[in-house]
Amino acid sequence: MSTGRRITLLVAIVLLVFLAWRFIRPMNIFVVEDRFAWPVDTSAVPAVLGDLRAAQCGACHQEFYKEWQTTIHSQAWTDPYFQADWQFDDRQHICRLCHTPLDRQQPHKVLDYRDRAKWQPIMEDNPDFDAQLQHEGVTCAACHFRDGRIVGVLGDTDAPHPVKQLTSANEVCVRCHVVNGDSWDTFFRFPPCGTVAEIRETAGSEPVSGELSVTDIAALGCVDCHMPAVERPLVAGGPVRKARRHLWRGGHDPAMVKKALTVEFVERTLSNTEMRTFVLNIANTGAAHYVPTGTPDRHFSIQLRAVSALGETIEEEDILLKRHVMWRPFIVDLWDTRLPRGEQRSYTLAVPRDSGAMAVEAVVRYHLLDESRRQRIGYENTTPIAYEVFRRRITLSAGGGGQ
Ligand code: HEC
Ligand code: HEC
Ligand code: HEC
Ligand code: HEC
Ligand code: HEC
Repeated sequence: MSTGRRITLLVAIVLLVFLAWRFIRPMNIFVVEDRFAWPVDTSAVPAVLGDLRAAQCGACHQEFYKEWQTTIHSQAWTDPYFQADWQFDDRQHICRLCHTPLDRQQPHKVLDYRDRAKWQPIMEDNPDFDAQLQHEGVTCAACHFRDGRIVGVLGDTDAPHPVKQLTSANEVCVRCHVVNGDSWDTFFRFPPCGTVAEIRETAGSEPVSGELSVTDIAALGCVDCHMPAVERPLVAGGPVRKARRHLWRGGHDPAMVKKALTVEFVERTLSNTEMRTFVLNIANTGAAHYVPTGTPDRHFSIQLRAVSALGETIEEEDILLKRHVMWRPFIVDLWDTRLPRGEQRSYTLAVPRDSGAMAVEAVVRYHLLDESRRQRIGYENTTPIAYEVFRRRITLSAGGGGQ
């Protein structure tokens, strides 16, 4: 073999090995920032906060405790979808740092990281591990406990525990919900978890149309939409204060998802003798970030259909509003048909006048994840993974006129 050929062969082998490795390597899907690279330190807890469990806070702050119990935050660890995904992803340690962020929620202590990207922790057993607290996921202390104190925004309360005042309530959300995805081998703007970064300006580039440029955390608006304002005492018998409900509704709540959208399905009045055209207008009018937001599993499906008197489908249009990501060998954002803030889209269904259609209908469904992924990760759901957020049927009169 000539030297030239040998070099070509060598390069080819190296390339093949590299690509093969890209197909089997563990995937580092986001940049591990210092913000969440370490668990929250709870080594110095004031006696009044006891074991830091939610029930402890709930003994005094009952309303807050009751609301939190109804939320996904309280299930961030036990959530069967998270559990299935986590097992599927080889139970990576990094997931714990947002889904169970307190040090004592974790069976291991993180001593340091072996690599600069912080994907390989050096760990040892954690004698302070509290399995019950682990099951509380994003518990009260996950958001409220910092450096031996309780963080809040009121600043004028009379609390039996030390308090530290935050300048903005949204600071609390940023730790887990605004995460970066840029690294040398990733070609996506937002990683799969904690993806509300889309609300923030992408550094060094023009924000995509509809993305909000926010550098000021106070202007993010998270708590305005996700923690409705309420006037109530913080503890039984305490003074009534300007507080916020602890609800954090999102993709698991049909009412919240509907709030994000303005949808209508109408006939377009065009003078076309052969066709009637029906239009679904759908707009993101209620969220400051993309809709749907969150993991790329979340999506909408839109089905527009013309049906005969016997219920047979005559014409059909199917549309997905979804973020498509290629994961291997390289992570690349392929295309994104979700709705950025303020954006409206229109989708049409054309029906020949002589088609015999008796009605047209539009259905919009929200999906937490799709069926094929559910099966792949072995998630046995007991609650629905998709639900309807809009349905409208227009009956067609035989003459081809109005509704
Ligand atoms: C022994 C009762 C008690 C316990 C236990 C307790 N708190 Fe409080 N907390 C209070 C009282 C009383 C106030 C002040 C009420 C007022 O002045 O209206 C307060 C105030 C607060 C505030 C408002 C601080 C501010 O300035 O914005 C927050 C937040 C808070 N508590 C969170 C927690 C959390 C989280 C826990 C559990 C880790 C907890 N509390 C445990 C009694 C308690
Ligand atoms: C300690 C990390 C952490 C913090 C801090 C945090 N979150 Fe979350 N949040 C999560 C995780 C993890 C989930 C997903 C849980 C799951 O579904 O398994 C989540 C889910 C949500 C959801 C989705 C609910 C649904 O139906 O799927 C909303 C909305 C939300 N958070 C809003 C907020 C807001 C607003 C703040 C700030 C006040 C905040 N979060 C602070 C970790 C956090
Ligand atoms: C996901 C983060 C998060 C979790 C979990 C959480 N809180 Fe809060 N909490 C906040 C934020 C943010 C505020 C400040 C809201 C505001 O007034 O703007 C707050 C405020 C409070 C206040 C002061 C009243 C108010 O609304 O400002 C109390 C009391 C409180 N929380 C208690 C609790 C208790 C008890 C739990 C657990 C049962 C809990 N919180 C869980 C984020 C959280
Ligand atoms: C103008 C109101 C508004 C603001 C501001 C806003 N959201 Fe939302 N958010 C919504 C609505 C409506 C939905 C439901 C639609 C959906 O799930 O995409 C939602 C959904 C979510 C979800 C659900 C994702 C899932 O996987 O189910 C998360 C998480 C979330 N928001 C976090 C945040 C955070 C963090 C901020 C601040 C950086 C924020 N939001 C700011 C209105 C808002
Ligand atoms: C930086 C914080 C962070 C890390 C690290 C993280 N997550 Fe999440 N995760 C979130 C937040 C915030 C949400 C809710 C909003 C969303 O959907 O993005 C979430 C949501 C999810 C959901 C959707 C749950 C549901 O009920 O629909 C799954 C599944 C999930 N995470 C799995 C993982 C796995 C597996 C890992 C580790 C490889 C991981 N997460 C690491 C913050 C994080």
